[in-house]
Amino acid sequence: MKNESKPLKRVTVLVSGGGSNLQSLIDAMEEGRIPIEIARVISNVPGVYALERAEKHGIPWSIIRHQDFDDLHGFSAAILEESIRVGTDILCLAGFLRILAPEVPMAFPNRMINIHPSLLPSFGGKGMYGHHVHRAVLASGAKFSGATVHVVTEVPDDGPIIHQQIVPVLPDDDEEALAARVLAVEHKIYPEALGWLAEDRLIIEGQRVKLRG
Ligand code: GRF
Repeated sequence: MKNESKPLKRVTVLVSGGGSNLQSLIDAMEEGRIPIEIARVISNVPGVYALERAEKHGIPWSIIRHQDFDDLHGFSAAILEESIRVGTDILCLAGFLRILAPEVPMAFPNRMINIHPSLLPSFGGKGMYGHHVHRAVLASGAKFSGATVHVVTEVPDDGPIIHQQIVPVLPDDDEEALAARVLAVEHKIYPEALGWLAEDRLIIEGQRVKLRG
């Protein structure tokens, strides 16, 4: 349900690669499915296709390279400063491959979210990103995998879970097949979860998230 009178939430999206999750947020915004305005796309890697997607849709973008800073805090401070400068209400990680220092999620309490390609808390944490996740799922013999949208807190992949959807792991799956099946679900649940947050419908109590209305 969209409330016309409420101002759109300003969303900054952090990316590192192809940006297919960014595209799913852009599509949901442009089709009026979620009450947001993507204020900025920030990539830590120059020349990635996510920036072309932003450009194509007239969304301002910037590059903040982690290599240009002495340490994680310098890089994180630059990301935080830019996000605040553009008036960000909600910070979204979308295929962003760096861990940010705690001061970033602490500046956006319950307003910073991430999409992870497994059913957290399984197959999360250190080193669990991209194809590493799907390789671990296949090696484990799990019969299901899926995607998770969660609140970003100071502990990577550990925040309250907002939305999940499962996919089957099929007997002849390889990493690519499983990754593609999970990615399709990511593109569905990320816009849905961001819409709930933008509509202030999340009730977050400890690790548990309930949906208002
Ligand atoms: C993919 O591994 C996806 O599962 C994860 O980030 C990676 C790139 O996604 N969320 P994107 O196409 O850059 O959004």
